[in-house]
Amino acid sequence: MQFFLDTADIAEIEQAHAWGILDGVTTNPSLVAKTGRRFDDVKRDILALVKGPVSLEVTATDVAGMMEEARALAAEGSQVVVKIPLTQDGIAAVVQCRELGIKTNVTLCFSANQALLAAKAGATYISPFVGRLDDIGHNGMQLVQEILEVYENYGYETQVLAASLRHPLHVLEAARLGAHVGTMPYSTMQQLFKHPMTDLGLQRFLADWQKVPA
Ligand code: E4P
Repeated sequence: MQFFLDTADIAEIEQAHAWGILDGVTTNPSLVAKTGRRFDDVKRDILALVKGPVSLEVTATDVAGMMEEARALAAEGSQVVVKIPLTQDGIAAVVQCRELGIKTNVTLCFSANQALLAAKAGATYISPFVGRLDDIGHNGMQLVQEILEVYENYGYETQVLAASLRHPLHVLEAARLGAHVGTMPYSTMQQLFKHPMTDLGLQRFLADWQKVPA
């Protein structure tokens, strides 16, 4: 499973990068706004640091506008993946991107039929929003399972990027289902390392080590 960090915060990306287990980054307009920085600055810093896939989202809502942004973003680096919302215009833009060899991540996916459209359009990634479905009382992980099943039936190459993961159990469930990628906040990635028995065990080993004659 590939691990992407869902953030526009450079310090968080630097830390995860230092752990050596970071495969890529996903951003969205809300995450960029949270930094209080200009998009161009955020984008430049992320692309300088991360050589794996970096999803940068378009903000136009019509095909022509999306394509203008997609071309400009893709020109920034070979690792750029253009994030496009799952609308009619968005799907049409994904088809054009595929023809131009521009990688895409179709975002705001809340149903398997939407994911089917993204695969037919030739998207590189589909992002089902697990946490946001859970928020409204649906089973977000079931959507990941349905998409994997539908894609498997037809051999679609679009990768399932489990998004809006909010806690370690989400990551585990997505991994058990075989999602190709999980994108998660820094806090969730940090939590994956933690287990009280690990801390306790290490404490004991270090204490006992002090008793070993020099
Ligand atoms: C996906 O790429 C989105 O940026 C993200 O996962 C949304 O997560 P949220 O629902 O926690 O905002």
